[in-house]
Amino acid sequence: MKKALLLFALVLLAGIGLLAASHDSGLPEGYWDSPAASAGKAPHDWSNLETDLRPEACAQCHAEQFDAWKNTRHAAAYSSGLVGQFAAMGFESANDCLQCHAPLAEQLYSGNADMFASVTLKLAHPAGVVASGQSESKLPLRHSGVSCAVCHVRGWQRHGPPQRGTGAVGEVGGPAHDGFQATADFETSQFCASCHQFPQSMAINGKPLENTLEEWKQSRFAKEGVHCQQCHMPDRKHEFRGIHDAEMVKKGLKFELSERAGQAVFAITSTWIGHAFPTYVTPQIIVRAEALDAAGKSLQTWQWEIVREVYYNNGWQEKRDTRLMPGERREFVAEGIPEGAINIRYHVQVIPDHFYKGVYESLLSDSMQPVAAQHIRQAVRDAEGNDYLLYEKELKLTSSR
Ligand code: HEC
Ligand code: HEC
Ligand code: HEC
Ligand code: HEC
Ligand code: HEC
Repeated sequence: MKKALLLFALVLLAGIGLLAASHDSGLPEGYWDSPAASAGKAPHDWSNLETDLRPEACAQCHAEQFDAWKNTRHAAAYSSGLVGQFAAMGFESANDCLQCHAPLAEQLYSGNADMFASVTLKLAHPAGVVASGQSESKLPLRHSGVSCAVCHVRGWQRHGPPQRGTGAVGEVGGPAHDGFQATADFETSQFCASCHQFPQSMAINGKPLENTLEEWKQSRFAKEGVHCQQCHMPDRKHEFRGIHDAEMVKKGLKFELSERAGQAVFAITSTWIGHAFPTYVTPQIIVRAEALDAAGKSLQTWQWEIVREVYYNNGWQEKRDTRLMPGERREFVAEGIPEGAINIRYHVQVIPDHFYKGVYESLLSDSMQPVAAQHIRQAVRDAEGNDYLLYEKELKLTSSR
């Protein structure tokens, strides 16, 4: 009995010692400035699997994260629409784009020859990762875009959120890659900012092209402590679903359809979106109403667009901004319904890559290098395949006209 108590006290003491030694020092300074995953020498006693930074290698031990991440836009960030624009830019400007699409020092181009070889290689291997997670793929790390190591590895050291179960922060030991550095910084919106927030100095009409963190700061979600991860990585799942996912978008909105004083009233409320709907300048949402007669013939249509529209004319200009801010409710009223109409049909169409479709069209209208043109034509097919119908419903009119 005494022995057991003594043992208990010792364990307690050791526990306190551990707690005192590990405190949350946050992400290392400059985590997002010229990040390098493999800076310095790899620890000499590591296995090949531990020194392999490709996501297929992480997948051998972190299958759950890999299986979710491989289907995300992050995994596809080294896209045809991106690399198809590089040939005309040169590798230095291309590297500026990679600052968000594949930012590790190991992913950047060393010169134009490196860039052209990679862009050509991508034609033969359109997917950046091997879906099975088996490590037969030998594609360069940049092809996996916003890869595991982009968020988690600096100078061979793994960084992650507080350990699951124990909540331990600071240095956490483990059976592989010498454990990891745990910090609650992984759970904050600021973590996503280096790629999802442009500086205010690049504002157009007061707002940068990407203003997601600022929009979030002004929303009720910031006050309630609901960070990007809670919506985009629920229970730490690496889903990163956004405007390209109909179910995700539906989760963020409330739809109401009713008749009011002889008019059809459709309302959309942004209930669970931590930023503008949509936050980026590329998607467009089209709300359409159609008056139908007893035979189902269309008598009149109405249309509205939800979009932030910008164009280039001696610098970027904003044409309009009709996006919904967090919590905002907007009505789309079909006024002056014609005689003979018995139904009003509303539908909402989402075009996630609306802006890029225009970019691709104008690129293809000029002469392009064949490899680049092949990528851009692929990007057009990808973009068109992304359009979807978000909502469709008919309102039976009760008042006669
Ligand atoms: C040989 C197996 C193995 C490989 C390969 C591996 N890991 Fe790990 N990893 C582990 C183990 C085991 C832990 C410790 C889990 C714990 O203690 O909670 C861990 C922990 C982590 C954590 C911390 C999790 C947390 O709770 O914060 C991160 C992040 C991580 N690994 C990322 C990676 C990345 C990125 C790669 C690929 C570049 C990788 N790992 C490759 C086995 C592996
Ligand atoms: C500050 C970070 C950042 C930089 C720099 C950046 N992008 Fe992006 N890019 C994004 C984000 C975020 C998205 C996704 C937007 C969305 O869907 O909400 C995106 C989406 C895209 C897409 C559409 C999706 C796809 O991959 O096909 C293309 C094409 C693209 N970017 C090209 C470029 C090019 C070309 C450059 C350089 C001139 C560039 N980007 C620089 C952050 C960045
Ligand atoms: C865009 C950045 C990003 C990318 C890419 C990414 N992660 Fe993570 N990862 C995070 C964040 C942020 C968290 C913590 C989320 C939280 O705590 O809410 C996390 C958590 C984890 C954890 C801890 C999970 C747990 O349940 O405790 C592991 C392990 C991990 N990531 C491995 C990976 C692997 C493997 C990949 C690639 C297949 C990957 N991550 C890709 C940002 C990323
Ligand atoms: C290293 C840069 C980088 C970091 C860090 C990063 N992202 Fe991204 N994210 C991107 C890029 C680039 C894209 C667009 C990829 C594409 O489509 O080509 C993207 C796309 C997305 C999308 C999908 C958008 C859509 O159009 O459907 C979501 C959601 C997202 N990111 C959320 C997050 C969250 C949440 C975090 C922080 C935990 C985060 N990202 C951190 C670069 C980054
Ligand atoms: C309360 C939940 C919630 C929070 C918090 C949140 N988002 Fe979202 N986000 C959504 C929903 C729902 C969508 C889909 C609708 C849309 O596209 O606006 C979305 C879409 C996106 C998209 C797709 C592109 C677009 O134009 O809309 C990106 C990128 C994104 N979020 C990044 C972030 C980042 C970065 C943060 C943190 C600064 C964040 N989100 C915070 C719910 C949230």
